[in-house]
Amino acid sequence: MPGTEDAPAPLGVIGGSGLYSLLDADVEEILVETPYGDPSDVLVRGRVDGAPVVFLPRHGRGHRHPPHRINYRANLWALRYLGVRQVIAPCAVGSLRPESGPGAFVLPHQVVDRTSGRVGTYFDTGAVHVPFADPYCPGLRETLLKSAATLDLPVVDGGTTVVIDGPRFASRAESQWYAAQGWSLINMTAQPEATLARELALCYQPVALVTDHDAGTAPGESVTQTEVFRIFADNLTHLRALILTAAPTATTRTREDCPCPDTHHGITLPLTLP
Ligand code: ADE
Repeated sequence: MPGTEDAPAPLGVIGGSGLYSLLDADVEEILVETPYGDPSDVLVRGRVDGAPVVFLPRHGRGHRHPPHRINYRANLWALRYLGVRQVIAPCAVGSLRPESGPGAFVLPHQVVDRTSGRVGTYFDTGAVHVPFADPYCPGLRETLLKSAATLDLPVVDGGTTVVIDGPRFASRAESQWYAAQGWSLINMTAQPEATLARELALCYQPVALVTDHDAGTAPGESVTQTEVFRIFADNLTHLRALILTAAPTATTRTREDCPCPDTHHGITLPLTLP
């Protein structure tokens, strides 16, 4: 949930493949130690038009951490430790739909988790089962949609991301099967990030940037890492503009404005947080 009107909580931004920095001026780098180990990198705290923002590159600068080795628990915990209450999470995705091609921006509303073996909870004892029917924050999504409109940036409102372990891309049969389920996007990092955000009572919304058509939509088509990085880099200016435009509005949201369920009603965080 966002902060109070008196003290806006910083907006957290977790940068995806190719987004390794966001804030240019008056920034402070903060090394956060967590009970779960090291986050992907130092966190960078600064302001966008006066709004407090904390940035963390998901893969670390220089893309040191592949999707299956990212310390998702440390990353989310570190953001929460610095006072973040809502997170915008840019990521590269493949599109499973012919109509959304490379360069398209999508604000997903659902997720299917096909990862395994990743640590996806802070609650290793007791009975804590957070609601996850609606994994993402509709309020943050609305803020991003309005920001995109002011920028004249076309954005697809809604989509379902299937998250795979990687680091390999999907086979053609897998890709076609995912598409046949009605899922629209494929990615390697969207989980367990969203689950952990929910466990820490953080509003969370991915901004998916389509870099490829995966392997399923056209005969012979397949995806390469080079293509993913190139398309992401080509669209970085738009992605940055979207986030920087959304940030000041996002930080003015209050708990009362937030349509997310009060996921922590009755749940005590097992963490020592400020
Ligand atoms: N990230 C970007 N494109 C992807 C794809 N096709 N599959 C999985 N993750 C991706």
